[in-house]
Amino acid sequence: MNICVIGTGYVGLVTGVCLAEIENNVICVDNIKEKINKLASGESTIYEPGIEELLKKNIKNNRLSFTTDISKAINRSEVIYICVGTPSLFNGQANLKFIEDVATEIGKYINGNKIIVNKSTVPIGSGDWVSMVISESIERNNPVKDIDFHVVSNPEFLREGSAISDTLFPDRIVIGSSSKEVVDKMTELYKPIIDQSFDCPKGIERLIPKGKKIPVVKSDLTSAEMIKYAANSFLATKVSFINEIANICEKVGADILKVSEGMGLDRRIAPEFLNAGIGWGGSCFPKDIQALSYIAGEYGIIPQILNSVINVNTGQRQKIVKKVQDELKIVKGKTIAILGISFKPDTDDVRESPSIDIMNNLAALGARIKFYDPIVKVKPEALDKKVLICNDAYTAAADSELLLLATEWKEFLKLDFIKIKELMSKPIIIDGRNFLDRDYLEKKGFKYIGIGR
Ligand code: UDX
Repeated sequence: MNICVIGTGYVGLVTGVCLAEIENNVICVDNIKEKINKLASGESTIYEPGIEELLKKNIKNNRLSFTTDISKAINRSEVIYICVGTPSLFNGQANLKFIEDVATEIGKYINGNKIIVNKSTVPIGSGDWVSMVISESIERNNPVKDIDFHVVSNPEFLREGSAISDTLFPDRIVIGSSSKEVVDKMTELYKPIIDQSFDCPKGIERLIPKGKKIPVVKSDLTSAEMIKYAANSFLATKVSFINEIANICEKVGADILKVSEGMGLDRRIAPEFLNAGIGWGGSCFPKDIQALSYIAGEYGIIPQILNSVINVNTGQRQKIVKKVQDELKIVKGKTIAILGISFKPDTDDVRESPSIDIMNNLAALGARIKFYDPIVKVKPEALDKKVLICNDAYTAAADSELLLLATEWKEFLKLDFIKIKELMSKPIIIDGRNFLDRDYLEKKGFKYIGIGR
């Protein structure tokens, strides 16, 4: 099929590359020229394992191209994906400005019957609103008035760091539309994934056996939109829940690792998202939970669980600062090393990263902070200007009185902790992800402080 993907951020780029990989002709559109030039030359604009190989391969096969010309892209496509951002406004509401702009452009250039796919996470009811914006734009801007189009909600469930695998080997595909014809067409488009009939690209592990069917949830538009918010909110709830249990574990003397293991083996609970730590961040959880809470408020519902999930998460970051204070007593003037700034490993994304919040709070208390991250090499805007960035973990550890592991990058497991101990002025480690080997570190003379143990 001829497809166009508008927006080449995380979701757009991964979607475009994967749809090309399952043998569609995909054209990706963005209004940032430098980005389009870079992508067209086969260089990825995001850090995501496996993406660059697929990008190069599909450009070479002539199945994937990039343009800033939205009219050309819309004209030649049967299916148009909207993949632009929906950042939070100050009150938690999702900002739909980018979606509105794209919908207006679609109305202007649409030249025949097409399916418009909403892949961006949008407030419940936005599908109908997008239809309205497109219709109004057709009325105002398009010489051809008699155009039949359908808006479908097809939320993504991809995680940064495993986005390609999550797209090619999904747990389910959700298609929300009132038109059976449109749902059938979308099912047809995803057939190679639904039937797991595509050839697994080189370098990507086949996670689902060839031929095994992927469940497809066919629903109305509103339910599809709600599935996305509810799924992310539930996952964040799971993490906040286990963090709350971890805090109780610390007081009663239980070990959260054992508690999570024991809980996760119950099939009704499942082991994923039961790792206690410094809390959740990223580009989705914070924005989506705030947005769902806002939507509930519009209907006079006080979403007590959602609000608690957010509060527990904020509290978790504060608890880490408290742990540092408990250890160092006076934080002012003390040097502290932080390992990891991305909100989780295998991504360079620092949006809403708990590590940044913790560093800023410690810097505000007068600590001298040095951090190292394997991928993030530029200090993010949101970080206190006084915080120093280091080229390696050892430089960060030198002269520090405490080291906090904030992101569980695999390379941190291979660090020479004997050298780190020699470099530090006091051997105290707070393992914010329960990631390091406590027994080993204690044997080597570190004071080890985990979360919930
Ligand atoms: C999430 C959803 O998983 C994905 O389906 C959605 O489409 C986008 O949002 P992502 O933001 O990439 O994906 O990260 P995810 O792996 O879900 O982790 C979110 C946050 O929770 C991270 O900060 C992570 O460190 C934290 N987390 C996760 C924990 O603290 N403990 C866990 O056990 C799991």
